[in-house]
Amino acid sequence: MRLGLYVAPLLVAAAVGCVRGDADAPPPASAEVVEAADSAPDDLAATGLYADVAAKALSPTVREFAPAYPLWSDGAEKLRWIELPDGATIDTSAPDDWRFPVGTKSWKEFRVGGRRVETRFWWKVREGKWLAAAYVWSADERTATRGEGKTVVVGDRRWNVPTSDACSECHRGKKDRLLGFEAVSLGLDGAAGVTLAGLAAEGRLAPTPSSTRLAIADDGTGVAAPALGWLHANCGVGCHNGNANASGYPVGLRLRLEVADLTGRSPSEWTSRTSTLGVLAKSPDEPGQLRIAPGDPDASLLVARMSAEGKARMPPLGTEVVDRAGLDAVRAWIAAQPRPADAPDGGAEPPADPEPADAGAD
Ligand code: HEC
Repeated sequence: MRLGLYVAPLLVAAAVGCVRGDADAPPPASAEVVEAADSAPDDLAATGLYADVAAKALSPTVREFAPAYPLWSDGAEKLRWIELPDGATIDTSAPDDWRFPVGTKSWKEFRVGGRRVETRFWWKVREGKWLAAAYVWSADERTATRGEGKTVVVGDRRWNVPTSDACSECHRGKKDRLLGFEAVSLGLDGAAGVTLAGLAAEGRLAPTPSSTRLAIADDGTGVAAPALGWLHANCGVGCHNGNANASGYPVGLRLRLEVADLTGRSPSEWTSRTSTLGVLAKSPDEPGQLRIAPGDPDASLLVARMSAEGKARMPPLGTEVVDRAGLDAVRAWIAAQPRPADAPDGGAEPPADPEPADAGAD
């Protein structure tokens, strides 16, 4: 049994209580859910992704999706799938924190140099409980078995499979785990397969959102969309957001785009701007440094941390190679911001961050 490997330590006690023998626990939804409650299968073939794993024939109930802005994974090619239980709806009453029906499954496949290396899996087995697994493919790509924390050699590259704790470090940024299967990532141009509009048309979203075509408006720079989209997927959706469980929450840097930002809220109120432009970092290791110095990428901590080597590098997990295209987009956006002296009111935007100072890195 692998219980505890896939949940953040603080959640272990609660999760154990859910498994069995807990008088307060809700009755199990089905025999299948009970049987699977404490561990994801050891073999990818048993997760339901494929009708025939050797032939790579997908199950007919599984559907592909791609978020408008992907997480950079050192150039790996990625495919993603979702399976929603028959006829069930997603609770979208919190537009940025969807709640999925029990039974939801999602997979993400990684290919390096054209070869399948890893497939990741999330499975909601009951309310408040998800199982995570990472399956490593055999060299002949016929089978894939559990391999969290392993290092795989592919040609001249080493591929690090995350530990189960690492999954949670990022995925606890959403209350119900899934990070790319969300309104912003499925509603912006570039999303493919299952999209926000498609889900709404199928009646899968309750309530149905009033707007299903989202757009990152121009903030006056003409280059906001690629930069803020990149920051959303790579920094905001998992860690730097307003969900109190998110790893980056305490420092108050907020890089997640919210549905409201993309449906009419003024750019001057987007937290990706108000918590960055002209705002001092809170970490004592970075005294007097601006998260973003408007007009000056080289003086901006965000750029320094995105391009740093070793421990200072952001994001700290899931990547060792700098995403040059992402970095260029962020640099271009910062360079296009009016410098304080050019700004109409003669000053940088005031820091608008309500949280108290905290010693965490940002
Ligand atoms: C560095 C942060 C990070 C780590 C570590 C991480 N993920 Fe993710 N994962 C993401 C982000 C961000 C997305 C959405 C963007 C994308 O897919 O490109 C995602 C997407 C996924 C998806 C597709 C469904 C969804 O959430 O959109 C699955 C399945 C998944 N991850 C499983 C896992 C598992 C299992 C682990 C651990 C073995 C893991 N991930 C580790 C950040 C992370």
